[in-house]
Formats: sequence, C-alpha cells, structure tokens
Amino acid sequence: MVVTLQDALILTYTSAKRNALRRGSGGVGSRKTTPGTGMPFFLSCDSGTLFGTTAEDRGDGRVRERQISMKFFIDSANLNEIKQVAEMGLVDGVTTNPSLLAKEGKGFKATIQEICSIVDGPVSAEVVTSDNAEQMLKEAHIVSSWHPNVVVKIPFGPEGMKAVKKLSEEGIKTNVTLLFSVPQALIAAKAGATFLSNFVGRVDDLGGEGMVAVRDSVNMVHEYEFDSEVLVASVRSPQHIVEAVRAGAQIATIPFKILELLYKHPLTTSGIATFTEDFKKSGLNFD
Ligand code: G3P
Repeated sequence: MVVTLQDALILTYTSAKRNALRRGSGGVGSRKTTPGTGMPFFLSCDSGTLFGTTAEDRGDGRVRERQISMKFFIDSANLNEIKQVAEMGLVDGVTTNPSLLAKEGKGFKATIQEICSIVDGPVSAEVVTSDNAEQMLKEAHIVSSWHPNVVVKIPFGPEGMKAVKKLSEEGIKTNVTLLFSVPQALIAAKAGATFLSNFVGRVDDLGGEGMVAVRDSVNMVHEYEFDSEVLVASVRSPQHIVEAVRAGAQIATIPFKILELLYKHPLTTSGIATFTEDFKKSGLNFD
C-alpha cells in the first residue's frame, strides 16, 4: 500500500533495481517525462540506480530532457547498520566522518575496509587535516590505497580545494564535505569534486532552510553540466528525503534510523492488518 512519496520512492527503487539486475545490463527502460514541471519522475534504472527524468521548457519552444538519479547512501560507520541496509538492497554507497568513526571505537583502516567488503559502491573516508593541501594529499593517498571504492572526503576550504583539484587530475574520487551554499558548491565542482555534500539538518537546526542550497546546487550542476553529483547530507527526517526528491538531488546519505522510518506509515500498517483480517474472515485461500 503506497501512501506517501517516500513509500513510492522505496517501492520504485526496489523494483527498478531488481529489474536492472534481472536484465543484467545497464540499459535504461521505459521513461516518461513531466514537461515543464521540473519534477523528477522515477521510472527506470541503470546499474541498480533509480533513474528519473525532468523536462524543462527552455522558453524557445524546445523542451530539454535531463536524466537524473537518486541514490541512497548510508551515513554510518556502524557495521551492523551497514549490513542490515545492504541486505535490504537499499544501499548504493556509504559515507563516514571522523565523529561517526569515533563512536564505533574500531580502527579507521579496518572499519573502512570492512565497510568496502559489505557494500559494493563508493565509501567515503575523510582526511583530518583541513588547512594544508600537501598534508591533505598525503592523507588522501593513504585512505584511497585501502580499497578501490574509497572516495576521499575533503572538508571545504582553499587548501581542501587545492587538494581536490590535484586528486581529480590523478583520477581519485572526492567528496567535498561541509558545503552550505551554492558558491561553495560551485567552487568544489570547478575543482573537480565527484560528490558535493550539502548539509541540510545543521542549517534547519538554526532556523534556516538547508534545502534551498541543495535545490540551487542541483540546478547549478545541471546548468553548467558538471559531472559532480549533489549529495544531501545531515539528513534528520523522512521529510528531508521528500524535499531531496523534489530538488532532484542525485544522492541522499541517510542515517540508519531515518532509513527505517522511510518504511513506516500508520495507514500502511492498518491497511495491511485490514486486508489480512478480511481475507482470513472470508475463508479465502490460495487453492
Ligand atoms: O556525514 C555528514 C553528515 O551527514 C553529518 O550529519 O547529523 O552530523 O549533521 P549530522
């Protein structure tokens, strides 16, 4: 029983992923567009990633169609949580940060390598230096040597962006973190960042609207045709996922407890109970 946008997202996501696996190819299936709305419309998938399209009226009689995707990363360094979401088939990647790793109390390298053995997707590991590009590059080379799927997470700033530019030239993927504004995201994209981690919850905590920068950054990336993907971070509630979908964000990194909440709706629970009860009372069966 699909009640909310988040229900539809999970349902479409899992069936699209299953179909892609069944096809065994990265081909894109049927697509529909919502001309002029700018709203993502999720229908098919490519390599297990949920795809959608937006169509926008360019004002000159032409309609430009854009392909976007919404990937789910888990924001966690907890191996049990990561295993659970991997089993649910819902995880395309993992983001960690020094605070999340510190909570788990295990080794940095051992934890990242274990995560890489559970999830076949980008796994962000963060450098700790933020004010010296040379030192950041040293740390970046260490973490990226741990596993081919490691993405180097770099805190935003002038030194960090020097490091990102160099890493991008070397073909090493980066996730620029602690982005709160479009100019910051633009600088990171120009430096060659793979992922632009735009924090929303920390802005909302202060009475701001974190999702505004996400919306503008998604437009910026499309408009200038950057390869960078906007990653919605600091997610606090299912509503943030609804808004991330509306913004057409390519990725949301979601804490485990919020991922669990995405499944929940009282009308789904009561609807299932009623259907089961009515079926049993009627004496119907599968024979
Ligand atoms: O990992 C980056 C970000 O998602 C952290 O979120 O909850 O500490 O604001 P939070």
